[in-house]
Amino acid sequence: MSVASTPRIRLLTSIPGPRSRELLARRESSVVAGLYKATPVAVAHASGALVTDVDGNTLIDFVGGIGALAVGHCPPQVVAAIQEQAAQLIHFSALVGTYEPYIELCERLNAAVPISGPCKTLLANSGAEGVENAVKIARAATERSAIIVFEGAYHGRTLLTLSLTSRTAFKKKFGPFVPEIYRAPFPYAYRYGFDEATCVEQCWQAFERLLVAGVDPDNVAAVVIEPVQGEGGFIPTPREFLRRLRDFCDHNGSVLIADEVQSGFGRTGTLFAIEQLGIEPDIIVSAKSLAAGMPLSATTGRAALMDTVHVGGLGGTYGGNPLACVAAIETLKLIEREHLLERACRIGARIRERIAEVPSSDKPPYLGEVRGLGAMLALELVRDRQTRAPAPEETLQILDCMLQRGVIAMRAGLYANCIRLLVPLLIRDEELEEGLDVLTRLLSL
Ligand SMILES: Cc1ncc(COP(=O)(O)O)c(C=O)c1O
Repeated sequence: MSVASTPRIRLLTSIPGPRSRELLARRESSVVAGLYKATPVAVAHASGALVTDVDGNTLIDFVGGIGALAVGHCPPQVVAAIQEQAAQLIHFSALVGTYEPYIELCERLNAAVPISGPCKTLLANSGAEGVENAVKIARAATERSAIIVFEGAYHGRTLLTLSLTSRTAFKKKFGPFVPEIYRAPFPYAYRYGFDEATCVEQCWQAFERLLVAGVDPDNVAAVVIEPVQGEGGFIPTPREFLRRLRDFCDHNGSVLIADEVQSGFGRTGTLFAIEQLGIEPDIIVSAKSLAAGMPLSATTGRAALMDTVHVGGLGGTYGGNPLACVAAIETLKLIEREHLLERACRIGARIRERIAEVPSSDKPPYLGEVRGLGAMLALELVRDRQTRAPAPEETLQILDCMLQRGVIAMRAGLYANCIRLLVPLLIRDEELEEGLDVLTRLLSL
């Protein structure tokens, strides 16, 4: 990859500038306080990996709508497809009748998921809805109620998915949560301080203990797992752990649900991360990057399983909206045409290379681990190399400094001490290098 030439970052004011501050004040008085915002950026328009705010500042986007923009902001082919579709049909509802973009997208997804045999798909509006649908289908298919999830997992903010989600900071006063959800430790080797094999062994023992002391396996409808934990800190699930879960589900008659809402759609170098992890799930949920930022999720799984639900048990007014469907069809074509899977691997390798060149710091925060798969990468920052004490405030400070220098990124991690990088895969080489110059300089201070 070539080194940056003409800078793309163009800063006319500090962030937020005066017009941004006005908009932020209006947000504060009109929008609920519970809606978090990671940055004070007030965006006017965006293209590719570049974002222009309402003060005319141009920034490089390293978080791409929280991973929803593998193909970047407003790719012309997707914009054209949405415009053309909008002139023909904006909404009909799949609960009322049938339109081709919904069918074509389901056909494409059924063929693309790494699940052998015939598959079927249900479309909805958000990742959370996609996961809820997967859980409903698993319960209907097995006629059991219990769901096993993992520490560090994030599956959404609706009340069922929030119950599946691990981090208590998201949950606070929203209980009581949905019953029959059981949580097992996730093999997060860096934090436990073990090598991966030992960590898998220990977590597996805990999983088996849960089946004796927590939930009767005869009642386990599904195990829900992120092949690469997203909010939890971009931790790829070890292959051996997934293999054991697959074995457990096979022998126990439980459904294995892969939540690929964040790890899916090309981000990791394959369309779905689980393709690199050696097993097939029964159901895959995809959402982010599926439709270039249009609200859409897909729950795709073995046809016989998916068809166990009674007629009328699934769906919603807007799920699989025609505009979102054509955006997704164009996105799939773009991923292929632009070789974005290979590009995800190259971007990931280049980021790792640049981070590896950063001289190791003699004062905190320290770079504890660089982790992830393909272009789904996080940097975990700690206050102490031995204890690995998380450094959430320092992580936030680095992100603020990045923003003041024109790069947008966001935190992740159970302890909010990871810098998450989800750069649009269509980012230009020189933009990637320029953004990495900013990040690596701050890491070496
Ligand atoms: C793994 C995973 N599952 C589910 C969700 C929920 O998706 P949404 O925010 O679209 O409801 C997310 C969102 O970040 C996610 O990362």
